[in-house]
Amino acid sequence: MKKLLTVLVALLMVFTLAACGNGGEGGEQSGAKTYKVGVAIYEFNDNFMTLYRNELENYFKSLETDDVKYEVTIVDGKTDMSEQSNQVDNFITQGMDVIILNLVQTSSAEALIDKIVAANIPLVLINREPLAYDADGNILDEAYEGILNNDYVCYVGADARQSGTYQGEIVAELENHGDINGDGVINYVMIEGDPENIDAQYRTEFSIKALEDAGYTVNCLVDQVGNWQQAKGEEICASALSQYGNDVEVVFCNNDAMALGAAAAITAAGRTVGEDIYLLGVDALEECQQMVQNGEMTGTVLNDHIGQSHTAVDVAVKCLNGEAIDNYYWVNYVKVTK
Ligand code: BGC
Repeated sequence: MKKLLTVLVALLMVFTLAACGNGGEGGEQSGAKTYKVGVAIYEFNDNFMTLYRNELENYFKSLETDDVKYEVTIVDGKTDMSEQSNQVDNFITQGMDVIILNLVQTSSAEALIDKIVAANIPLVLINREPLAYDADGNILDEAYEGILNNDYVCYVGADARQSGTYQGEIVAELENHGDINGDGVINYVMIEGDPENIDAQYRTEFSIKALEDAGYTVNCLVDQVGNWQQAKGEEICASALSQYGNDVEVVFCNNDAMALGAAAAITAAGRTVGEDIYLLGVDALEECQQMVQNGEMTGTVLNDHIGQSHTAVDVAVKCLNGEAIDNYYWVNYVKVTK
């Protein structure tokens, strides 16, 4: 009887403890610590950022143990800076333990960083790097003050100059170096991403620089902003092909989504990649890797969303554990050709 009573009392204590557990800021739940993680993505309707955010979520899940849980809240900024600013305010009110932020506008970085730092919440910026500019609006080759001056603010990303250079090198390495008609000039179309992401500017600049550095002459037929979107890529490429026809030798797209659109326009115009035109993207979406293998795309560059998302999560966890972090974390691009 006494034994039975002891067991009952013990059971009662276990249940009471479990019932008292609450989530919340580093809260205890069934003996486990639960951290609240706020993730703000610039736009859910973006192929690359969808892969990235799914991997962020999966990787946090995979790190959970009996003792540590991560309650991850992911919100869609819908390419609207004031919406994202409100979302960050909500994260602060909700007492997030760490925030992962994919800015809608890098030009608004300071205001957001300031309020997150003032709330004492560690911040991991991803994918859209805030940059330092001089008074004339030129990019300064130095770290961003808001990142450098705060121990718990960092940026995780890839250096887009590398991806641009790789695109140019892929063309330079072709037998005819992109000069299909042999007139000594590479005539190209450039389809750019949203200028709020420096990746667009760097890929545009460094793809061409790589060709020029290798000694080739280039001529830009069309250079337009497609905002990373497939439909825009198709529209810009279709109109370039109808205006310049066979003069178009190379189509550079700042990302694969726009290259998918351009590929459709190329087919619709009766042109054949690898024979009478070349097509380049960046990201190495699975579909595009397949197209490179089939010859429907000349090449792409792996934008490693797995490496970047895992690094972002690892750094966020370091912050949660109170460990020191670096200001910048870089993940390499990789050339993808047949
Ligand atoms: C990717 C694009 C994506 C953009 C979003 C870039 O690094 O290459 O595909 O749309 O980030 O900011």
